[in-house]
Amino acid sequence: MISYIKGYFGAVLGLLLITFTSFASESIDQQVQTLLNEPAAIASGKQSYGIYCAACHAKDLSGAVGFNLKDSVWLHGDSASDVFNNISNGFSQAGMPGFGAMLNEQQRKEIVAFIFSKREGLANVEYEIYQPSQYPNYSFSDLDRATPAKQGRADNNLVNFELAETKEYAIVVTADLYAPKDKASMLFAKPGPFSQFEVLIDGEPVKMQGGWDRFWPLKKGFQKLVFKMMLPEAPYHELTQTNPDLRVMTPDEAINFFPVSTKAESIINQLEHNIIADKTVLVQRKKIAELPAYSISVGFPKKINYAFNTKNCSLVGLWKGDFLNVGPNVIGRGKSSSLPIGNWVFKSPQVLGTNDEALCAFNKYQTGEQPKFYFSLNSVELSLTTLKATSTSLTFEYQVINPNGKKSLNIQLPALESGQLTVLANGQNINPKAIDLTQVKAFTVTVSGV
Ligand code: HEC
Repeated sequence: MISYIKGYFGAVLGLLLITFTSFASESIDQQVQTLLNEPAAIASGKQSYGIYCAACHAKDLSGAVGFNLKDSVWLHGDSASDVFNNISNGFSQAGMPGFGAMLNEQQRKEIVAFIFSKREGLANVEYEIYQPSQYPNYSFSDLDRATPAKQGRADNNLVNFELAETKEYAIVVTADLYAPKDKASMLFAKPGPFSQFEVLIDGEPVKMQGGWDRFWPLKKGFQKLVFKMMLPEAPYHELTQTNPDLRVMTPDEAINFFPVSTKAESIINQLEHNIIADKTVLVQRKKIAELPAYSISVGFPKKINYAFNTKNCSLVGLWKGDFLNVGPNVIGRGKSSSLPIGNWVFKSPQVLGTNDEALCAFNKYQTGEQPKFYFSLNSVELSLTTLKATSTSLTFEYQVINPNGKKSLNIQLPALESGQLTVLANGQNINPKAIDLTQVKAFTVTVSGV
């Protein structure tokens, strides 16, 4: 019996040793790949990221003092082991501490897995270039039989279609494409007339849509992209765009996710226009991405911003950060939304007010150091302004201008991503769902600890 137990233990020990050695010999890249399939590991990485990294790289990884960690531009290497080593060692000259001593190996790997789970953009971009003599019929099937005149890997994970050596060519680009996981997106091209295209996603041809501008719907998350472009025969290639603007956007073209070509990158960089409320209060009446139409945004130099919506007479968003990226609106296309820069405290469909547009009658607003909105909610005439803004709190004041015979008012509060809400009248906490208008002429709502 004893020997049986011993033998059993021996076997278990042996097994443990084998698993241990095989685990230890697995590379960081493989281990992170495994963690990417474990929701608990990603959740734990997200939590550590929030505590140790978000202050410099932003909660949504879009970058602040530290670089953007979800796009395809990696200055210090884009493999899991590169990122792991960069987190461990830090960049002391640039102001990023090393986390090798503070976080254990598992925590650092989980952070890498979380960052990779949010990845957007291209990776492993390879191209093949063909000359017109290789495709006499100007058909993509000619390319399948030809040997490329030139091939290589693209720098910076961006496709550069501008060839110094030739103006007439066909190109086949293959890449790993990480589309947003939670939003629909499309590959968008602005090539001018006459060029031919073929797009394959995970090996399947995708039907082209659009007219002058063309687009191809993408899947969510990771996919393999093949993008083929054949310029028209001479002399028509003179009329077309040899370096097309190729990028990934929302289907309504409101938000750019990332550039695919060098041309798109330079256009997007040129168009980016940040409006930052660093000295005075700014009011912008523009379509804001992620918020409903008819939202007016107010930016405070104290770095808290809010948006008031004139359709439901309610606050539909509150965010900390540098206010607005106005995008291509500045050159008058008027099509693209402004992006709020910073981290949300809450956003629509969460509201402070009501989601019932039938209850709302918007009147007017006043700009200046203390922007003020005038409106009625369920016939109760109100004004709304802010009393006090610090870097972590904001107090809104509602004044009842005319109750119009109503005895009470119901204000819906949002669920916050961070911080607390306090509703006060005459220094007392009150129930926002039943504000007694026979007693209350003004009340405040304070969002604090954000
Ligand atoms: C105090 C600010 C700060 C903190 C905190 C911080 N970083 Fe950084 N991080 C930076 C700066 C600045 C850079 C740019 C380094 C440079 O200029 O080369 C950077 C660069 C990086 C890079 C290299 C990006 C590239 O393009 O190759 C990675 C990866 C990174 N940080 C991850 C993290 C992670 C993960 C955490 C949390 C564990 C973190 N950082 C915490 C400031 C910070």
